[in-house]
Amino acid sequence: MKRVIIAIFLVCLGLGCSQQPEKSSTSFDQAAAIAACEKVIADFQTALKQELIGAIADGGLENAIAVCNARAPMVADSFSRIPGIHIQRVSLRQRNPVIKPDSFETAILEKFAAEAGIEPQVYTELTFDSAETKYFRYMKEIKIGKLCLNCHGSLDTFSDGLKGVLETHYPDDPAVGYSAGESRGAFSVTITYPEAEATVVSLTGGQIN
Ligand code: HEC
Repeated sequence: MKRVIIAIFLVCLGLGCSQQPEKSSTSFDQAAAIAACEKVIADFQTALKQELIGAIADGGLENAIAVCNARAPMVADSFSRIPGIHIQRVSLRQRNPVIKPDSFETAILEKFAAEAGIEPQVYTELTFDSAETKYFRYMKEIKIGKLCLNCHGSLDTFSDGLKGVLETHYPDDPAVGYSAGESRGAFSVTITYPEAEATVVSLTGGQIN
């Protein structure tokens, strides 16, 4: 019995079963992580824009609101099925009330809003949960452009039909009244390691560094 306990103790030592979370000594390739986040954001943004522009072409802005309501969460879900990656759009003024920025996201959104410039701002942070698990968090600001004003601009410029559809899907919508160039929110990506290691390589084609 004693031998078994000693063996388990030795195995634990070998595997680092320490109770104290420690920073991982394995190397972390920040350039690869950033490239992976940028790739996921670009693909996510393209998928959302395709839905949006297709829906406007099919049936105008009112149709596009209904399509965004149904499709935007599905697009986000399909991207978040990529192993080790989570992506969502967050805002201090959420139209989709199901998504709630966490305290990290809220702090960065406030920072973006306070320091708003012409170029979208970016924020990165690496955190450790245990010796093994680490999270790379990446936020990229989303700016209001001309197209966006159709559905996020001043209510006075909206048709009654559009106001009606918005009211149906999003009562008390806070995501209106923006002007061009304003900070609308951010893409928020979390990469969980080691789960995402292979994903990061495949997303970046192993071409980083
Ligand atoms: C046809 C109307 C329409 C247009 C045009 C539009 N949006 Fe939206 N937007 C929506 C709807 C509807 C939602 C909520 C989708 C949902 O329920 O997940 C939304 C959600 C968002 C969100 C997620 C945060 C939140 O409040 O739920 C961001 C960020 C956003 N839009 C930015 C933009 C930007 C930037 C543009 C211009 C490139 C744009 N939108 C153009 C209708 C529109």
